[in-house]
Amino acid sequence: ESKQELKGKTILITAGPTKEIIDPVRYLTNRSSGKMGYALAEEAVKMGAQVILVSGDVGLKIPDQVVHVPIVSAQDMFEAVMKNYKHADIVIKSAAVADYRPKEVFSQKMKKKEGNLVIELERTKDILKELGLKQDKPYLVGFAAETEKVDEYAWGKLERKNADMIVANDVSKEGAGFAGDTNIVTMYKKNHTKRALPLLSKNETAKAILDEVIQEIKKSDQV
Ligand code: PMT
Repeated sequence: ESKQELKGKTILITAGPTKEIIDPVRYLTNRSSGKMGYALAEEAVKMGAQVILVSGDVGLKIPDQVVHVPIVSAQDMFEAVMKNYKHADIVIKSAAVADYRPKEVFSQKMKKKEGNLVIELERTKDILKELGLKQDKPYLVGFAAETEKVDEYAWGKLERKNADMIVANDVSKEGAGFAGDTNIVTMYKKNHTKRALPLLSKNETAKAILDEVIQEIKKSDQV
């Protein structure tokens, strides 16, 4: 039986990929399955938290007792997070958000033409960074999906996005990152310490991340 250590806390979790519409039959997306974020939602509920899960339809069951806010694009996710973060004590951004979207969305199916096609892309808003700038910012956990220089990029993200913790996964490692049922993560914290977890199921990884967040919040409540 869990100790209900998150009782009375609200956690907002983002999960899965975003889809950036090109035309009525096409979109840009990525390899995220939503499993990491849904595991976080499940474990947070077990620990007694109120959970708001912002994600697209990834074909996974929404865990019982979770409030699901459905989204499609990075812009939808931005709006959903900005609307809901005020109710949250903790925000965990495990979603794989598109960094770019088509500049123009076509209302009719694009027809084939001679020669190459160029689709111009524009930047999406950085949700994590925007949250990091808020006066009333909740305890903020970002993820980092990297294929090289994991340490350097994770410390950089912690700093630049003013997050309280970055959970990095080296997605080039067997058993880590997208789609599978396991992950290998390292948690990077504000006090410049890091903690590496071994290969674990996504649920075990989620539990360990939440335990770490609880410890950190307890520490900061004491000062
Ligand atoms: O869903 P699964 O198949 O289980 O896979 C899990 C996962 C690999 C997707 C997950 O563990 C993970 O690493 N999620 C973050 C993926 C990602 O987009 O990382 P990033 O390094 O590009 O982004 C850094 C952080 O900024 C992330 O917290 C991301 O949510 C956030 N971000 C990124 C872009 C943007 N426009 N807004 C954001 O908030």
